[in-house]
Amino acid sequence: MGKNIQAIRGMHDLLPDQSPVWHYLEDGVREVLDGYGYKELRTPILELTELFKRSIGEVTDIVEKEMYTFDDRNGDSLTLRPEGTAGCVRAGIEHGLFHNQVQRIWYRGPMFRHERPQKGRYRQFHQIGAEAYGLPGPDIDLEIIMLTRRFWQKLGLEGLELQINTLGTSQERAVYREQLVSYLSARKDQLDEDSLRRLETNPLRILDSKSPDMKVVIAGAPSLMDYLGEESKAHFESLCQGLEDVGQDYVVNPRLVRGLDYYARTVFEWVTDKLGAQGTVCAGGRYDGLIEQLGGRPGHGVGFAMGVERLVALLEENREQLPIKGPDAYLVLMGDEAQRKGLVLAEQLRDRLPGLRLITHCGGGSFKSQFKKADRSEAALALVLGDDELARGVIGVKALRDDKEQREIALDDLAEFLKSEI
Ligand code: HAM
Repeated sequence: MGKNIQAIRGMHDLLPDQSPVWHYLEDGVREVLDGYGYKELRTPILELTELFKRSIGEVTDIVEKEMYTFDDRNGDSLTLRPEGTAGCVRAGIEHGLFHNQVQRIWYRGPMFRHERPQKGRYRQFHQIGAEAYGLPGPDIDLEIIMLTRRFWQKLGLEGLELQINTLGTSQERAVYREQLVSYLSARKDQLDEDSLRRLETNPLRILDSKSPDMKVVIAGAPSLMDYLGEESKAHFESLCQGLEDVGQDYVVNPRLVRGLDYYARTVFEWVTDKLGAQGTVCAGGRYDGLIEQLGGRPGHGVGFAMGVERLVALLEENREQLPIKGPDAYLVLMGDEAQRKGLVLAEQLRDRLPGLRLITHCGGGSFKSQFKKADRSEAALALVLGDDELARGVIGVKALRDDKEQREIALDDLAEFLKSEI
C-alpha cells in the first residue's frame, strides 16, 4: 500500500462541521449585496497569464513570486487567478458591459497565491468581492465602503477599523515617486535588503514595510498627500466628509499603499487586531486606469475583496452566538415495520412541510445508538417510531435541547405539531 495522499500545503478542505459558518457568512453577504443592487458575475478560475501581468503589475509580489502559472497542452501560459478584479474587468470588456453603463457586480470563489502559509494566509483562499463601474465620483467610493460596513453589521462582527488613503492619479504618483526615490536613495545605508530591491522596482511599497529598522526613515519620507492635484484632493475630502456624514470612524493611513499596481485615488482596508499578522479582512479601492490598460475604452472602477477564511476565523470565535441551528428533528426507527413505514412518513412530512429539516435514521441499530446519533446531529427533537407506536398510531417526541419529558403524539397530528415547532 502506498502512502496516504494529502492535500497540498496551504490548501484546505472545508469540513462538514465548518461549512455552517461559511454558509452563515455567504448568505448574509449575499443578502446585503442584493440589497444594494449588485449582481453576481462568475468568471473562470484560469485566465491567460498576460491578464494578471498587465493588471496587477509585473513588479508586484503576486506576479513576481506568487502565481500558479503553467503552460497548457497548447503551449498557452495560464494562471490560477490570484484575485478577482482582473477577471472581472476582462469579462466586462469582452461582453461590452462597460460602455456608457453603470455596473454593480460581485463575485466569489477560490483564489491562489503561492505565499508562505501561516494563520490567515493560505495558498488557496476564498474571496467575496464587489466592483462598481462607470462612476468617477466619491459617492460610489462611499457606497462601496458602506456596503462593507453593512456586512459587519449583518454578521455581528465588531471592532473592525477602517483605514483609508488616497494614491492620487498615476501622473501624480509618478512625480511623487521621483521625490520618494531621491529621498530614499540619499539614505540607502538605512534601507533593508527588501527595500533596496524595491527602490528600483516598486518604491511606494517601501512605505508599507513592516520592518522596525525602517520606521524612522519611512516616517521622514515625503508624503503623497503633498503631491495631489486639486481634483484628487477634492475627491478624497469629499469621501472623508461622506464618512463623517454617515457616522463612520476612520483612520487616514498614509502608509496604506496596497500590493497591486492598478489603484488610483481611494484605497481602503478593514483591519482587526484579533488575527495576528494577517489582520486585513477586506481591502480595495479605485482603479480608474485599469479598463483602458486591459484594452477597453477609458472607464472607472472601484471595489473590494474580503478574505473569507479570515472573516470565518473571527466568526468562529463566537460560534455559540451565531444563529446556526441543527435540523428540526431526527427520526429514530425501531423494528422492521417502523423502518419501512418511517421512510414513507418522512416523505409525507416533507411534502406537507416545505423547509422541514429532518434526518431519517438509516441503517438500523439499537435504540441507544440511534438516540446518540440523534443527539449528535444537533436536532431539536427526536421522533421515536417503533413497531409498538406504529400499532397504536402514535409517535414519541423528545426535545433534545431541554429537559422536557418524552411524550406521545397521534401520527395524524404530527405534521401540525411540527409546523408549530419549526
Ligand atoms: P488583496 O488585498 O490582495 O486585494 O486581497 C483582498 C483580501 O483577500 C485581503 O485583505 C485578505 O483578507 C484576503 N487575502 C489575500 N491573500 C490571502 C491569502 N493568501 N490567504 C488568505 N486571505 C488572503 C485584492 O485581491 C483586490 N482584487 C481587491 C479589490 C477589488 N480591489 C478593488 N477591487
